[in-house]
Amino acid sequence: MVVRLGLEDALAKMAELALKHVAGAEVIGLGSGATVARFVERLGDHVGKLKRSVRVIPSSFQIQLVAEKAGLELASASLIPVIGLAVDGADQIDSRFNMIKGGGGALLREEVILQAAKRRVILADEKKYVDVLSRSIPVEVVPFARTQVEARLRKIGGKPVLRVLSKGYPYVTENGNLIFDTDFGVIREPKRRSVEIKSIPGVMASGIFVGAGDIFYVAKSSGRVETRKARPI
Ligand code: A5P
Repeated sequence: MVVRLGLEDALAKMAELALKHVAGAEVIGLGSGATVARFVERLGDHVGKLKRSVRVIPSSFQIQLVAEKAGLELASASLIPVIGLAVDGADQIDSRFNMIKGGGGALLREEVILQAAKRRVILADEKKYVDVLSRSIPVEVVPFARTQVEARLRKIGGKPVLRVLSKGYPYVTENGNLIFDTDFGVIREPKRRSVEIKSIPGVMASGIFVGAGDIFYVAKSSGRVETRKARPI
């Protein structure tokens, strides 16, 4: 109980700390998930107090709804090239800041936003930080190529499982694609694995993100928040 309260405190603190990166950014890219949602809820108030315009580009309908509720103004996807700051979460982060993303199915849009942004801030609790990546990799696939991609993923050593909703219907991404959650065991060479997955025709995105974050916050069960820099910015 005490531990949970400590983590709750740290998650709230982390969302607050991330607000300092808003300085100078006119267009902010938003990742998806519960951790980013905490930041977005605060961002509404924060932007309300600034004497300048700040607009957001959401990576999913989930975070768009949170942004709308927080009173934030949305920007068109055509402004992705001028995103000054992106704030995102992750499902797993290794000691070299490689990430597994896509647990919520927003990987393709998250990747587009993170690649465009000048500064990338990643928010995650300490359980997400590991030495080596080992979670199943979400792989977003065009429906036409489903069986072919599945076969190729098996051929390179993966165990793909089509993501389905609780009643068994296939999960369809906001881009109209399917997801194979693909177990590769321990991932010792994330970059090589990511290139290999992305080279399969029909694959739109791999959940392995390499070099996609600059500043990483760690919310700890002690109630503290730690900052780690992937590169000096
Ligand atoms: C969304 O597709 C993922 O990449 C998210 O960043 C991830 O699932 C984090 O979600 P939580 O903050 O809810 O754990």
